[in-house]
Amino acid sequence: MGDTSADPGRLLAQMTLPEKVGQLTMITGEWAQTGPKAMPVSVDAIRAGAAGSILNLWSPDAVRAAQRAAVEGSRLGIPLLVGFDVVHGHRTIFPVPLAEAAAFDPDLWQRTAAAAASEAAADGIGLTFAPMLDVARDPRWGRICEGPGESPVLAARWAAAKVRGFQGAALADPARIAATAKHLGAYGAVAAGRDYASADPSPRDLAEVHLPAFAAAVQAGVAAIMPAFNDIAGQPATAHTDLLQGWLRGGQGFGGVVISDYNAIAELVVHGVAADLAEAAALALRAGVDIDMMGGAYQAGLVPALARGLVTMDQIDAAVLRVLALKQRLGLFADPFRGLGADAPPAGVRFRALAREAAGKAMVLLKNEGAVLPLTCSGGPIAVIGPLADAAEEMLGAWSGAGRAEDCVTFRAGLAAGFPDRALRYAEGAGIESGTAAMIAAAVATAQGADTVLLCAGEARAMSGEASCRGAPVLPEPQLDLARALIASGRPVVLILCSGRPLILPDWLVAGCAAILAAWFPGAEAGHALADVLSGARAPTGRLPVTWPAAIGQIPIHHALRRSGRPASADHYTSKYLDIPVEPLFPFGHGLSYASPQIEALRAEPATVDVPGQITLRFELVNPASQHVETTVLVYRQDPVASIARPVLELCGFVRVQAAPGERVPVSLTFGTDVAAFPGADLAPRVETGRIDFLLGTRAVEAELARVSVHLRGGLPHILPQAEQAGPVQG
Ligand code: NOJ
Repeated sequence: MGDTSADPGRLLAQMTLPEKVGQLTMITGEWAQTGPKAMPVSVDAIRAGAAGSILNLWSPDAVRAAQRAAVEGSRLGIPLLVGFDVVHGHRTIFPVPLAEAAAFDPDLWQRTAAAAASEAAADGIGLTFAPMLDVARDPRWGRICEGPGESPVLAARWAAAKVRGFQGAALADPARIAATAKHLGAYGAVAAGRDYASADPSPRDLAEVHLPAFAAAVQAGVAAIMPAFNDIAGQPATAHTDLLQGWLRGGQGFGGVVISDYNAIAELVVHGVAADLAEAAALALRAGVDIDMMGGAYQAGLVPALARGLVTMDQIDAAVLRVLALKQRLGLFADPFRGLGADAPPAGVRFRALAREAAGKAMVLLKNEGAVLPLTCSGGPIAVIGPLADAAEEMLGAWSGAGRAEDCVTFRAGLAAGFPDRALRYAEGAGIESGTAAMIAAAVATAQGADTVLLCAGEARAMSGEASCRGAPVLPEPQLDLARALIASGRPVVLILCSGRPLILPDWLVAGCAAILAAWFPGAEAGHALADVLSGARAPTGRLPVTWPAAIGQIPIHHALRRSGRPASADHYTSKYLDIPVEPLFPFGHGLSYASPQIEALRAEPATVDVPGQITLRFELVNPASQHVETTVLVYRQDPVASIARPVLELCGFVRVQAAPGERVPVSLTFGTDVAAFPGADLAPRVETGRIDFLLGTRAVEAELARVSVHLRGGLPHILPQAEQAGPVQG
């Protein structure tokens, strides 16, 4: 596999400076527009060796033509690296990442990435700009839908699964593609949830919250890393030497390619840290950015930067070698047309069963009063109402790759197939952001006489994702008017919510709906998956990977908050609001099902453990129901006394368990004592002596979880006798 004969070193020795700069330049094929400025594909540029990679181009014919220009038309015949945002599917579109994260199923995450890789590879793609690993705790930020949610532990598991899925065991496998972990630099923490804004995480936040998923991606062997657009306390991630050279390459041992975000090097001038493109190019190259995605900063700036002594030829050469090494690992020198064999045409949606499984597992049942769900297969009419009920294109979500609206099964179509013995009545009721009294009246008439009203409401796909932040992430007013009228009609209303984020829901809506299901943007198999969940053919198992706020004023909000010295209570001088609750509407981990298995006989072995050592948690999952259940048990840790105040709860693991009717399933989970580690005052990881509690269950609500304590022995102390206190006492 791969071409061992292509020697990047020998190739480098033959390259002119413009050819070297070309290898560091990515241009666009313009089949998709994913950024502001276009440097359209020019076959001449490829032939001249002025572009080593290309994005937003796919399909066997188009990629073959571009690749031919590179290998047959350019002086050195170096193949192109073809990149694309294969984020939640290529032709088969899976649920948006936030939704897929709700499945808490690393095996599924890996399988969907592998499926997407195989479709993309057959379409000529060698590199995806995924997985997106930005831990996000602010639903105003449109890009919260592109990542795995608010927990660094969940994000790290997501990172490893996705990298393995995209890349497989060897990049030279023509059915796999190189992954790019993005966007390094606390992009999820942009101020006030506004895209591209500054982030100013504390060094602790960076270490505890934003970096662990990237460390996990590097450990899993990720081929590329993309720094974020934003600055971190004034240092743009694209020029952040401490982060890219220090933490990433030095600390994590990352030897792969760093690729800028779209136009991000040229934007260093706009940030105000570079006076011109030569300085911008120099800052990025010195920080360790190898490929300039669009913007042309390397093309325009690297040669003058070299002439001004801002960069060295060695720095340019090192970057070129890393790019050539990636091409070699992908097997592009051996076969520039890898994956494009005549036997692998990307003929339509190839992974429908997987897309249905993923979408079904992603849906989160938020409320189910009076067990209105599941719906029975026979009975009176069902009214399917709302602007998302029959909206094929909206099902695609934010990054639709090469997906097509006509491949998507709408809710209406899927329900018709899933409930053949029930009459289905349909009315649009309102547009996503517009409506009329007549539409509402027609919807109410449709609801009359129905056993159940399924109100399919939410956002348009364009309301979530990049540059789609919302100061008020709510249901648009016309849909609220529709909901009000349907609730007033007296029929039981089940709200099916499509969104790329938790939407703030008014109290009357939550109270007035008998059931609420977060369906997110479910992808190609939306309708079939919805029918599966509503009928109980696939009982809901999704759990919220992100806290669902009750009010906009609570944002940012997440489950791993510290207790504070004055936790909220009835006392006036405590940490709360006068006008809104402190509790979220639905906590992290929330997710109902049609049966409730119980955790029993929880114990930890050993009860006292030496550091370093291992802790095994054992429990029995008891299924008292008459149906088979599948459930996810979440494990939180709580460190009651530590040298640094720890969050009340922090997710530290999870496990999916299946149980037959009446079965007691023994479950065990083993952790190293580093599960108790946290960055100390000096940010070095430490494990302290003393008690640590594990809390098991579902939602991040302390009182609802089963607790077991473990005593750690031989760790570091949380307080030293004064005589041993090192260094001066800080005033
Ligand atoms: C900008 C986005 O921030 C990034 O996630 C994406 O990979 C690039 N555009 C390329 O489309």
